[in-house]
Amino acid sequence: MKKSIDELVDVDVEGVVAREIFVDDELFEQELEHVFGRAWLFVGHVGLVPEPNDYFQSRMGTDPVILTRDKAGEIHVLLNTCTHRGMKLCRSDQGNTRTFTCPYHGWSFSTDGRLVDRPGELYNVPGYDTHYHSELDKKKWGLISVPRVEIYKGTVWASWDEEAPPLLDYLGDMRLYLDYALDYRDGRPGGAEVIGGVQKWRVQANWKMIPENFIGDLYHDVSHRSVDAVGIGPSGKGRRDSFGNRITLCFPEHGHGVIGQLPFHEEYDGVSGNWGENPEVQEYYRKVHESRVERLGDDMRVAMSVGTIFPSMSFHGRQPRTIAWVHPISATETEMWRIFLVDEDAPEVVKDEARRYYMRYSGPGGLTESDDMENWAYATRASKGWRSRQLFFNYQMGLGHARPVPELDNAVENGEFNEENARAFYRRWAQFMKASSWKEIPMPESEHTR
Ligand code: FES
Ligand code: FE
Repeated sequence: MKKSIDELVDVDVEGVVAREIFVDDELFEQELEHVFGRAWLFVGHVGLVPEPNDYFQSRMGTDPVILTRDKAGEIHVLLNTCTHRGMKLCRSDQGNTRTFTCPYHGWSFSTDGRLVDRPGELYNVPGYDTHYHSELDKKKWGLISVPRVEIYKGTVWASWDEEAPPLLDYLGDMRLYLDYALDYRDGRPGGAEVIGGVQKWRVQANWKMIPENFIGDLYHDVSHRSVDAVGIGPSGKGRRDSFGNRITLCFPEHGHGVIGQLPFHEEYDGVSGNWGENPEVQEYYRKVHESRVERLGDDMRVAMSVGTIFPSMSFHGRQPRTIAWVHPISATETEMWRIFLVDEDAPEVVKDEARRYYMRYSGPGGLTESDDMENWAYATRASKGWRSRQLFFNYQMGLGHARPVPELDNAVENGEFNEENARAFYRRWAQFMKASSWKEIPMPESEHTR
């Protein structure tokens, strides 16, 4: 007998989540509709499509989409499948083009998604006059546009659901932490440059394990012990980071959460720990920190390290600023993507150091993320068997010990080691899975809805 969603996710009483949700094909199909078909999904950064007619191939759930900037400079998110007979239209990762011409029968689409209507030209509908007798309604057969697209400080978000709340409501006060990653060092919004391209790799693991790790799993430090022990952290030596007083902070009604350090205003060693010894780089990041403290002061509860926006976007807020997001492939396979952001006008030496950090630290070739990937993949595999899939994962750590955060709406915090944020993530997941439309998904009142 199939378990109900409430039986699969019991984070508030028993503090457990059924292993089935990490391996079951039917639940995976349901997730594509209920979670990836409704939530706001991060699809890319405007820095990936800086010029008119630039494009970047992205995904929303298992659907391929193209993030484009049309010739007038407008951003679009288009379903990457030819409306004639389904051919995947754009097959290179990113580039610049006037039209996407289908390799199957030659229909051409402009970067705003319209079926090109330039009779007599090469890039058009081949045989429009002769084979179609000029009867094909070209206006009807443009690419499918994702109906909701919002750009927030350079990040591009999309939702398939017309009824989705505005992005700012969806983010709630988590927005403060997103700002922490996206604003220029002096607070100017956006202006980040994507350096070093997009890292992409596949993990033989369920997608949820990855944002869950970023949302608040400080307990897994033990996994990275070898990196710390032999002194091959991102700075090239020493520990991966030197931590201050860490806590997890959670927006339980939104399903978002972060890991950070207290207090916000103190200089923390993580800055120097991550960046080696180049004095110019050190000085740059010291100034970034000072400017943030001055600017954000009491608004910030913690100096953010890493966090997740439900369901699939995670990011590092302090230096380096990275966005890591996941695309589900199947119940037991996930594609991870990661970009690194630096201030556009940062000195070259700072950009170079960020690039080196990028290669040393993350992705399948990095020194740290490979540890995590092994955990996620083996945990998925070891939960797939007939017997093991009947068991539950344990999320009881710190259950009942959350405290409200007075200065933030709808926020709670817990200590350093707890599973508060993971519980919030799965509680939110359950809400999405049970709902038949956005109307049934609880949304807290926020200053944006009031
Ligand atoms: Fe694209 Fe036929 S499938 S033109
Ligand atoms: Fe890790």
